[in-house]
Amino acid sequence: MTRSALLALVLASCGSGDSPSMLDTHAGEARHIAGVWWLMFGIAAGVYLVVATLIFWALLRGRRRQHRTSRLNENAFIVVGGVLVPVVILALLAVVTVTTTKTVRTDEPGALRIEVVGKRWWWEVRYPGTKVVTANEVHVPTGRPLDIQLDSDNVIHSFWVPQLAGKVDMIPGQHNHLRVTVDDPGTYLGECAEFCAVGHAHMRFVVIADPPAEFDRWMTRREQAATNPVSDAAARGQVVFQRESCAGCHTIRGTAATGVIGPDLTDFGSRKWIAAATLRNTKANLAAWIANSQTIKPGNLMPPMSLSPGDLDAVVAYLESLGS
Ligand code: CUA
Repeated sequence: MTRSALLALVLASCGSGDSPSMLDTHAGEARHIAGVWWLMFGIAAGVYLVVATLIFWALLRGRRRQHRTSRLNENAFIVVGGVLVPVVILALLAVVTVTTTKTVRTDEPGALRIEVVGKRWWWEVRYPGTKVVTANEVHVPTGRPLDIQLDSDNVIHSFWVPQLAGKVDMIPGQHNHLRVTVDDPGTYLGECAEFCAVGHAHMRFVVIADPPAEFDRWMTRREQAATNPVSDAAARGQVVFQRESCAGCHTIRGTAATGVIGPDLTDFGSRKWIAAATLRNTKANLAAWIANSQTIKPGNLMPPMSLSPGDLDAVVAYLESLGS
């Protein structure tokens, strides 16, 4: 396979649906970073072409004229090609990198503050000034600057949504900020970009960007506490949820469940994903997760639950009814 065919294959694989490309940009911040990538790619391609041409030229020329090249020419070639050109290229890239970093970190007035905390191994999402707490799905409005404060209460994680912005680490005891304005409505896949022990590969999330009016409606809905279950199964599920250890780890706003170890489940039924965006939120997946999440995501903090089949179905019905 030729090198260009290989490159095309690599670039094509970057854009597959499950693994978004940082070159498929949907925010100004990502465009700036992609610009640096393209500049580096262009320079690398240029250097490659020059070197490959010289090698071919040397091969074709053979050894016939080797005695004609003066020592002075060889030395000049080494100084220019081996020192001067690399120094100019690296200096240019350093300047571009520093100015781009400064640009994407600029604090915009009127930014919407969102707080995301890296957990083992999921993401808690808070909207300061509201009661809304959710997990693994970061709802944002389009066209409005966002100031996403990033924290961790355990080890170092890294918050990365390739189509929107660069990586920012979440460091215990330090507030880091990701500043971004999302241009287009859509769902953007994010993942943890810093190895954080056994659950690292299962630590994904999504950013769901909606037009401002739709985002406001979402916020209004999410501010409501959980209402009483309407079906018999959900009512039984609520009883089981309180009776078993579930309520000790999870909060469901408006009920007696106020645990803070696991994700807040007040809007659970409205979420598209469970298990930090690694499983679709379906009844079957949820039942399997509750029964023994350790077989799905080894090492996570939720213990296996030995519920009767009827109780398990009831808890699933209850959780899926939340936040609708
Ligand atoms: Cu969190 Cu890797």
